[in-house]
Amino acid sequence: MRSSRAFASPLRRLVKGTRPVRSVMVLLTLAMLAGCPDLHWGTDESEAQAQHGAQLTREYGCGSCHLIPGITGADGLVGPSLELIGRRAYLGGVVPNQPENMVRWLMNPQGADPRTAMPNLGLTEEEARAISAYLDTLK
Ligand code: HEC
Repeated sequence: MRSSRAFASPLRRLVKGTRPVRSVMVLLTLAMLAGCPDLHWGTDESEAQAQHGAQLTREYGCGSCHLIPGITGADGLVGPSLELIGRRAYLGGVVPNQPENMVRWLMNPQGADPRTAMPNLGLTEEEARAISAYLDTLK
């Protein structure tokens, strides 16, 4: 009896101790969820995605190989210029420039053309979609 009570009381104290922590977590989660619609308030969803894509384009250093107007320092000459890429008919000269093909191209260029010099940068689908949304604004 005594030993089970000795065991139970620290346990109870632990539960009691974590209850405020749990309440704070719940409140924070609710605050975050409630704040979410505010984040995109007045901003077009696709515009936000394109902006995220522009940021990723910077972070992945696409500009070391491509000239990309609007991205500072993006003056690479290894690959073709991405100026007006939104109007280009073919990607890598092989697949029609459509959103789904662009996402596939970005995630795995060799899947479209095994001989292409564009490296597979290991983009996630979410990243490729954001970058694709950004590139589609270059028209
Ligand atoms: C190491 C150099 C290199 C890097 C880094 C690179 N690319 Fe490329 N990219 C190329 C080359 C080379 C081609 C031309 C491929 C071909 O024609 O087969 C290309 C082609 C493309 C094309 C098709 C363009 C067209 O006109 O056909 C797009 C779009 C593209 N890259 C976007 C990106 C994006 C976005 C990134 C960053 C996430 C990136 N690239 C990073 C070298 C690179």
